[in-house]
Amino acid sequence: MKILVTGGTGFLGSHTVVELLNKENEVVIIDNFSNSKKEVLEKIKQITNKNFLFYEGDIRDKVLLKKIFTENKIETVIHFAGYKAVGESVTAPLKYYDNNLISTIYLLEAMKEANCKNIVFSSSATVYGKPKTLPIKEDFPLHTTNPYGTTKKMIEEILKDFSKANPDFSITILRYFNPIGAHPSGLIGENPNGVPNNLMPYIIKVATKELEYLNIFGNDYDTKDKTGVRDFIHVVDLAKGHSKACEKIEKGVHIYNLGSGKGYSVLELVSIFEKVTKIKIPYKIKKRREGDIAACYADPTLAYKKLNWKAEKSIEDMCKDAYLYAKKNK
Ligand SMILES: NC(=O)c1ccc[n+]([C@@H]2O[C@H](COP(=O)([O-])OP(=O)(O)OC[C@H]3O[C@@H](n4cnc5c(N)ncnc54)[C@H](O)[C@@H]3O)[C@@H](O)[C@H]2O)c1
Repeated sequence: MKILVTGGTGFLGSHTVVELLNKENEVVIIDNFSNSKKEVLEKIKQITNKNFLFYEGDIRDKVLLKKIFTENKIETVIHFAGYKAVGESVTAPLKYYDNNLISTIYLLEAMKEANCKNIVFSSSATVYGKPKTLPIKEDFPLHTTNPYGTTKKMIEEILKDFSKANPDFSITILRYFNPIGAHPSGLIGENPNGVPNNLMPYIIKVATKELEYLNIFGNDYDTKDKTGVRDFIHVVDLAKGHSKACEKIEKGVHIYNLGSGKGYSVLELVSIFEKVTKIKIPYKIKKRREGDIAACYADPTLAYKKLNWKAEKSIEDMCKDAYLYAKKNK
């Protein structure tokens, strides 16, 4: 299958491209490197020993999109490209609405014109807000608490409206929980600049001595050890979920949670990381962060039933692979 991957040099995109190439798909990537590096292209080739096409540019560039769809008979699009920093979205909401919404609208227009009718979209568990019960199922009500999350919710609405007007399209919305880890080769992974927002990159920066200690936000939650509980999923498992979603072409809109279904607390993750890497992670307890919720984990049953996908890698694998990538790319 010929698949266009937007944002294909980013964290999730690069791992997904590896899976798609391993499954003998033809891959075309578009990325503007706003949050990734050119060297990822070489790393993907090194891991897979396979070739793919790459277009450097912005998906808000209609001319470039038309060129890509004219030069390639794309059958499916996986749409990762977008901004994802929750904190920045609060201070620069227009930047988020502009990039995340406009890019999706232009992409759908270009797909329609080219008669390409399958799309897999990156949504997020953040669309559930603070769930009333756990685990979270796909039919839970949606409620967002920041502009980033709202862009995801709005794109889901756009896709549903688009589907009503274009019922022959197959639209898959994947709501990711907390992707962490890295490719076991240590060649690709996640490497945010500055002080990270997310827990694993933060732990890594402490492990590699770039930061002195980890800030744990809140130890007064109603959870097993009073720290926040999240559903961590290995990025390679997540990538495999995309490969499965591409294989399942079904008209209409189909929504799946991609999570492990297990909840680990912040302190549990720290302790498992210490055990796996034999590195002590000093931490300080800070006040809760606004907008953070106590616990969040998926019911991933639907993805298992319909896509024949489930997360297979352990939390130990996630820690081991994330640290290997950090060591190799210090
Ligand atoms: N990583 C997570 O924890 C997480 C969780 C839920 C959902 N998501 C969503 O999954 C998608 C991928 O996330 P990621 O972690 O790989 O992020 P990332 O920032 O690593 O990757 C996104 C890629 O898209 C590119 N990009 C951004 N805007 C673009 C544009 N207009 N044109 C072309 N390229 C553009 C960036 O350069 C980057 O390579 C995002 O949509 C994100 O919101 C991520």
